[in-house]
Amino acid sequence: MPAALLVSKSPPLCGELTVHGAKNSVLPILAATLLCRTPCVLHNCPDILDVTHTLQILRHLGCSCERSGSTLSIDPRGFAENAVPPALAGSMRASSLFLGALLARTGAAALTLPGGCPIGARPIDYHLQAFRALGASAEEEGGTVRCRADRLHGARLRLPGPSVGATENAMLAALGADGCTTIENAACEPEIADLGAFLCACGADLRGAGTPRIEIEGGALTLRRAAPASCAGVIEVLGQCGCRIRCGHDTISIHRQGPLTACRPVTARPYPGFPTDAMPVLLAAQLGAQGKTSFTETIFENRFLYVQELQKLGAKLSQDGRTVRLQGAEPLHAARLHAGDLRGGAALVLGAMQAEGESTIFGVKHIQRGYDNLEAALQSAGARLKTVEIPIKV
Ligand code: EPZ
Repeated sequence: MPAALLVSKSPPLCGELTVHGAKNSVLPILAATLLCRTPCVLHNCPDILDVTHTLQILRHLGCSCERSGSTLSIDPRGFAENAVPPALAGSMRASSLFLGALLARTGAAALTLPGGCPIGARPIDYHLQAFRALGASAEEEGGTVRCRADRLHGARLRLPGPSVGATENAMLAALGADGCTTIENAACEPEIADLGAFLCACGADLRGAGTPRIEIEGGALTLRRAAPASCAGVIEVLGQCGCRIRCGHDTISIHRQGPLTACRPVTARPYPGFPTDAMPVLLAAQLGAQGKTSFTETIFENRFLYVQELQKLGAKLSQDGRTVRLQGAEPLHAARLHAGDLRGGAALVLGAMQAEGESTIFGVKHIQRGYDNLEAALQSAGARLKTVEIPIKV
């Protein structure tokens, strides 16, 4: 039933009030949770209709959303749909932000034109212009906006005006792009800085939110609580493979647009040489690289147990004593694999992630000896894997 307010003449106000969380900060952050692969907990969220409607959109898209007081828990792992219901899209302006989030997450988005306060024409041409610059098609037809991109790529954007919504949408879409995006003439409102802080807390490599120039490394993987100084040998080889590496005090951000290129031949040596324990994982990562290379082990005489398993995926590997030669970028297919040691087991996981189909890896206990919930870590970065119980044949 529609409500009305009855208001009478009132005395000057006095006392103490607590300011609730900002509507225009929480709405883009809620849309941004679609880019996460693990649950998000947001504190100090106001209990207002636009938030309620945004939570309904997230639930419609497959996410689970719970409120406890002013704390919202969003679990995006059930995400499965990329069209926003028209009634919800038309209920507020901020629904437009699902365009950028869905484009980054799935490469497609459909939305009826957003609603919101009728305080002006409020077109979204700047938003669509940004999406097109990132490599998407973006058309408005009959009151519905449709965006699609096979692959988003980094771009240098200059917004025609410092639009808050267009800045937020460009930030979200750019996170799904391969490579670096700069947004010039960006809006500087506090909610932009809030969105940037949330995205960085989720692992985004993003700088300048809240200033007129924002830089975003899309399609990146950022490692936190890392120790760049002690990984110099690995970082150097990843650079040879065409990765762009950015190291902070305790972070390593790795970017790569397209397939890796083969690294120079690698020989494992005692620290500070290339670490023997990183060799299996690097070799597996090289299966997708373009070119040939080789890996020589000088520490352990039986380090290459996993090579014959990777060959079951179709990997072009040949072993000659303590050297394995690799021809990369060969098509790989699913197989049943057996982990025989800790680092070799991790190599099998990386190899299977590059193979068409679903592989089964036995001997998971080897992996569990040395990796803390490898499954969840890789899932949070977008990998598709799960642990299943194998019935023991009696
Ligand atoms: C956001 O609206 C806020 N809404 C508005 O608050 C706020 O007033 C406004 O920013 C300015 O701070 C939300 O965050 C949900 P703009 P937004 O894009 O993003 C033109 C409230 O009461 N423009 O910065 O829609 C536009 O028409 C609401 O909480 C284009 O021409 O504002 C306007 O004249 C009201 N093309 C100007 O830019 C575009 O593609 C600024 O709009 C986008 C905008």
